[in-house]
Amino acid sequence: MNAIIALILSATGFAVLFAAIWILHRPLDVHSCPKAGVRFTHRVLEWILTAWAFVLFWQVYCLFSSTQTADTPSDALSVIAQRTSVRRYDQTRNVSDEAVETLLRAAMSAPTALNLQPWEFVAVRDKNTLAALAGANRFGAMIAQASVAIVVCGDTIQGVKGTPNKWWMLDCSAATENMLLAATAQGLGAVWTAVYPHEDRVAAVRRILAIPERYMPLCVVPIGYPADPSAKPKDKWKPERIHKEKF
Ligand SMILES: Cc1cc2nc3c(=O)[nH]c(=O)nc-3n(C[C@H](O)[C@H](O)[C@H](O)COP(=O)(O)O)c2cc1C
Repeated sequence: MNAIIALILSATGFAVLFAAIWILHRPLDVHSCPKAGVRFTHRVLEWILTAWAFVLFWQVYCLFSSTQTADTPSDALSVIAQRTSVRRYDQTRNVSDEAVETLLRAAMSAPTALNLQPWEFVAVRDKNTLAALAGANRFGAMIAQASVAIVVCGDTIQGVKGTPNKWWMLDCSAATENMLLAATAQGLGAVWTAVYPHEDRVAAVRRILAIPERYMPLCVVPIGYPADPSAKPKDKWKPERIHKEKF
C-alpha cells in the first residue's frame, strides 16, 4: 500500500511540474529566447522532469515485479496482525525458489537457546511426497495441494557435548512462527501442521523423508498462494487474559 501512495504522490508531482513548465514556458519561444537565464531555467526544469520520469518508471516496475501485492502487509506489526492459517491454495501459482529462500532466512533468524540453532529444514515440491505427507496427518489434507511444504526438524542432541538438547522444540517453534510471518509478508498462505508429539506422524514423516534418528520432525508447513486472498485473521485479543503485577 505504501508503494502505491508513493507512486500516486510521485505521479502528482510529475504532473504539476509538467503543467508548470507548460504554462510558464510554452507561450515563449524558449529555445530561441534571447534571455540566457530563461533558457537555462527551462533546461534545468526539463532535466528534472526527465529524471522524475525515470523515477516514476522505476516505481511502476518495482510495484509490479515485487512478489508483494498492494495489500500485502510489509511492516512487522501488520504482518503479525494479518497472519492466519491458510489451508486452500491457488493451484495456478507456484511459490518461487526465491520466496522459499526468504521463508528459510526468516526461520533461521529466530532466537535459539545457547545460539545452538538446532534445526534442519526439508523443502518438498514433489507431488507424490506431498501426498504422502498429507496422508501422515488426518488434519493435513491441504499439504497435498501446496506448491511447496517445509518440514521443520529439530536436532535433539546438543552439539559437541552430545547431551540431549532440551530446547529444540522451543527453538524450532520460534523458527516456524517466523516462517509463517514471512509467508504472510510475501502474500503467501501457510499453516502449521503438527507432526511432533504424535508418534505415528513422527514415524511416518521420518520414513517418507528419510530423517535420521537424532532429528525430530516438529511440523510440516504447506505453502502456496491463498485461494481466497481476502480471508481475514481471527480476532484473538482477550484483555481478561492479562494480569498486572501478579497472576
Ligand atoms: C502446534 C500446532 C499444531 C497445529 N496443527 C495443525 C494441524 O495439524 N492441522 C491444521 O489444519 N492446523 C494446525 N494448526 C493450526 C491451528 O489450527 C491454528 O493456528 C489455530 O486454529 C488458530 O488459527 P490461526 O492460525 O488462523 O490464528 C496447528 C497449530 C499449532 C500451533
